[in-house]
Amino acid sequence: MSAHGRLDGKIALITGIGGGMGVAAARRFCAEGARVVGCDLNSEGAAATEELIRAEGGEITTMGGVDLGDAEAARAWVDDAVAVYDGVDVLYNNASTQRFAPLEELSVADWDFTMRNELNLVFYTVKAAWPHLKTYGGGSIINVGSIAALRGVEFMAQNAHSTAKGGVISLTLQLVVEGGPHGIRANVISPGLTETPNTAPMLADPPERMRRVVLDRIPLGRHGQAEDIVNAAVFLASDESSWISGTNIVIDGGASVLG
Ligand SMILES: NC(=O)c1ccc[n+]([C@@H]2O[C@H](COP(=O)([O-])OP(=O)(O)OC[C@H]3O[C@@H](n4cnc5c(N)ncnc54)[C@H](O)[C@@H]3O)[C@@H](O)[C@H]2O)c1
Repeated sequence: MSAHGRLDGKIALITGIGGGMGVAAARRFCAEGARVVGCDLNSEGAAATEELIRAEGGEITTMGGVDLGDAEAARAWVDDAVAVYDGVDVLYNNASTQRFAPLEELSVADWDFTMRNELNLVFYTVKAAWPHLKTYGGGSIINVGSIAALRGVEFMAQNAHSTAKGGVISLTLQLVVEGGPHGIRANVISPGLTETPNTAPMLADPPERMRRVVLDRIPLGRHGQAEDIVNAAVFLASDESSWISGTNIVIDGGASVLG
């Protein structure tokens, strides 16, 4: 893990730090000098991340059992998180969960669950953080989209997921406009297929169809690692990107250009 103090002095709120890319994000942000307040629905995961990072010398506070799909819980978490280090410079909306099914099998409950836990929670945290960001002189909002929002695929019935991530991207565009006068920047990171504890078993033994239509069609010849995604987040959180707002950084080894 490289660390050059690129986030020295920054206070970053990161969601979904109890698993997957959120762990890598919290570790790297702390290693780069940020003070991080993280949360997750998963209490054990959040506590494990805090223990890991504190053992590495990082400055992090985590809160578990936080359901960001509940507007009031999201608002309370943001308020509490801002109070921990008395400020906020970065809101990194990483957390999400979703349900996949072909259109005819996707229930309205599955659709609503996915909107709640992929799109609504982003709106809730942003809405709660907005007055704080204005108070502290602006900041950087990093929303995690997905290449799922950019095209249909044959290997996964991503109806609700792609719609929710498309909503995250569209919401971000408007945040750019409304946030600019307050020094608030907003950008999206859209990962391609990335290895996490959830995807690792599938990537270790991919179904033939997935290998053919996805893994064998990545121009850079490999699937993603969490660090590939977090590298972009560090840039967007840092002052190196201080005149960048409204981008959608696609991080997929070039796969999406092939359609
Ligand atoms: N892994 C990939 O291949 C991939 C590809 C494209 C986009 N993404 C996106 O990247 C982000 C991270 O993905 P990941 O693979 O690390 O996911 P993950 O499922 O491994 O981790 C997500 C974390 O968010 C938490 N979470 C989910 N819903 C929550 C809620 N309502 N309140 C609080 N916490 C909640 C989960 O408990 C979990 O710890 C997500 O936004 C995901 O959609 C991932």
